[in-house]
Amino acid sequence: MSREFQFNPTNVNTILDESWRQLKEAAESETHPWRLGNLATLSEDRPRVRSVVLRDVQTEARELICYTDQRSDKVNEIKASPRVEWMAYDSVTRVQIRLRGVASIHTNDARSEQHWRESSPEHRRGYITISAPGTKVESAVPNLPDYLFDRLPNDEEAQLGYENFAVIVCRIDYLDWLQLRRNGHLAAQFLWTDKWEGHWKYA
Ligand SMILES: Cc1cc2nc3c(=O)[nH]c(=O)nc-3n(C[C@H](O)[C@H](O)[C@H](O)COP(=O)(O)O)c2cc1C
Repeated sequence: MSREFQFNPTNVNTILDESWRQLKEAAESETHPWRLGNLATLSEDRPRVRSVVLRDVQTEARELICYTDQRSDKVNEIKASPRVEWMAYDSVTRVQIRLRGVASIHTNDARSEQHWRESSPEHRRGYITISAPGTKVESAVPNLPDYLFDRLPNDEEAQLGYENFAVIVCRIDYLDWLQLRRNGHLAAQFLWTDKWEGHWKYA
């Protein structure tokens, strides 16, 4: 794997640009490790974190997008307290990014419809569940109707999943960048007010 994180050490903004470029690439590629993010929320006064797949990036709007079941805990947590943090690490470039922002939940609206249209039958099957995620069950069985254990849903069946489908849009206002290096780590941070402003910092 030859991926590099390219930047100009005399221009901190090249870190910001390359971070968003690689995030976009990650959303479009099965192999970029930033495709798998860790999304942290607040649950009352405790942090909660889980893996999520980065499905889309809107650079101009500063948005990171993932999909979920609207009955999942994270949806209620975001509704109660929308500040989130998203973290990803690339072991090839040895770059960690942490992005903070405000999340919103989209169900049954133009945005959720657009993403549902773009999703695959395999992905849609994950939403045609018997019970809400997290429901107690007596044995180790998948949360799927019997008829979908060994096949993908047809178009009509897949549509049943739409009512559980939610799009989480995280609008980012802070980006923290860290690259591990043998001769000393490098770090930078960026804050959005009405534009991005950033600086290098000691790691
Ligand atoms: C590799 C991997 C990718 C995952 N991607 C997603 C995802 O994109 N959306 C999602 O809701 N859950 C995803 N999950 C499951 C979550 O990590 C989590 O277990 C589940 O959503 C319940 O989280 P909650 O109870 O905090 O809502 C993924 C899990 C793994 C291991």
